[in-house]
This record gives sequence, structure tokens and C-alpha cells, in this order.
Amino acid sequence: MKVTAPVLAFAMLSLAVGGAAHAADVAVAYDDGVRAFNADDIPTFAIAEDGTVDWPTFSGFRRYHAECHVCHGPDGEGSSYAPALKTSAMRMDYYDFLEVVASGRSRVGASDNSVMPAFGTNQNVMCYIEDIWTYLRARGAGELDRGRPERRADKPEAYAEVEAQCMS
Ligand code: HEC
Repeated sequence: MKVTAPVLAFAMLSLAVGGAAHAADVAVAYDDGVRAFNADDIPTFAIAEDGTVDWPTFSGFRRYHAECHVCHGPDGEGSSYAPALKTSAMRMDYYDFLEVVASGRSRVGASDNSVMPAFGTNQNVMCYIEDIWTYLRARGAGELDRGRPERRADKPEAYAEVEAQCMS
């Protein structure tokens, strides 16, 4: 097939756009005093040179292992029952991730009984979902080893205020 220049340009453009949409941007652009964000205002992790993990990401480690690990396996690694969320978090759109956690999901008509529960009314999950997200992204990006982070930052004052509001 003879490809004309404009068609080729379009194909290359859509390739570039598609590529960008799939590359997870985990770089810290700013910090609002509660947590770090990337340039698209999506929560991200902040791990210092000496390995000190920011408080929200450390919190995400704890919450993940309290609420998700029973099905999704330790350290976001996945299990025979549910997918590896360290991979999902790198692949999924943040808002799609929130939607699945809040509303749940099940494979309708599947022969295996695979159900992701809805956590939308569970404060122990929803008040910490950004934390769980940044934890999973840190795991997926290969920036955080398996297990409990050895060093963590203290809980910021502003974080404690937001947390208290959400949990009340
Ligand atoms: C009772 C078991 C169970 C628990 C607990 C659970 N999940 Fe799931 N989750 C699943 C199953 C099973 C699937 C796959 C559902 C499907 O195939 O549609 C899933 C799918 C997901 C997906 C979609 C992944 C993808 O790649 O499409 C996300 C995101 C997710 N879970 C997040 C969480 C988070 C965050 C928690 C903890 C707050 C959690 N899950 C707790 C069973 C569970």
C-alpha cells in the first residue's frame, strides 16, 4: 500500500499520543503539603535518595495490606484469584482505578467466580485510596521493594487534618 505523507503523519501522531497515554507519569511535579502530585494533578509517590518513603505512600502500604492483600496478594504482586495491582496501577487511568474500587466489578457470566467488591462506603479504603494508589505505583515503577518500607517520613500536619475530616 502506498502511504501518503499526511496519512503517515497522522499515524505517527496517533502512535505518539497513544504511547503517552500508556506511559505512567510518576515524576513529582509538586507537593500540596498533604502529598505529591505529577504534572497532571494525579497523586504520585515521593521517595528520597536514602529510600525514605513519603507518609502517604507508607500509609498506602499499610492500607493495601489491611484491605486488598487478602485477594490481590502481598506487595501488589497478584494472586491466582485477583490481578497484580502494581501492574494495574501503571496501566490504568487513575479515575478508572477509583471507579473500580468504589463500585466494584465482576466478570458477568464468567465460569470462575471472580468478584471485586465495592468499597465506596468503606472509609478505611476510600479515605486512603490515593495512598493505596501511590503505593501501588511505587511498586509498579520498581521504586519500592517488597515488604514494609524501612524508612518513612513523618505524617504531615496537613495530612492529619484531611484524614481526620474524612474519617469523621
Ligand atoms: C474479595 C477479594 C478482593 C478484595 C478484598 C479486593 N479485590 Fe480488587 N479485584 C478482585 C478481583 C477478583 C478482581 C478482578 C475482577 C474482574 O476480573 O473483573 C479485582 C480487580 C481489581 C481492580 C481492576 C484491576 C485491573 O487490572 O483491571 C482494581 C483496580 C482493584 N481490584 C483494586 C482493589 C483495591 C485497591 C482493593 C483494596 C482496597 C481491592 N481491590 C480489594 C478481588 C478483590
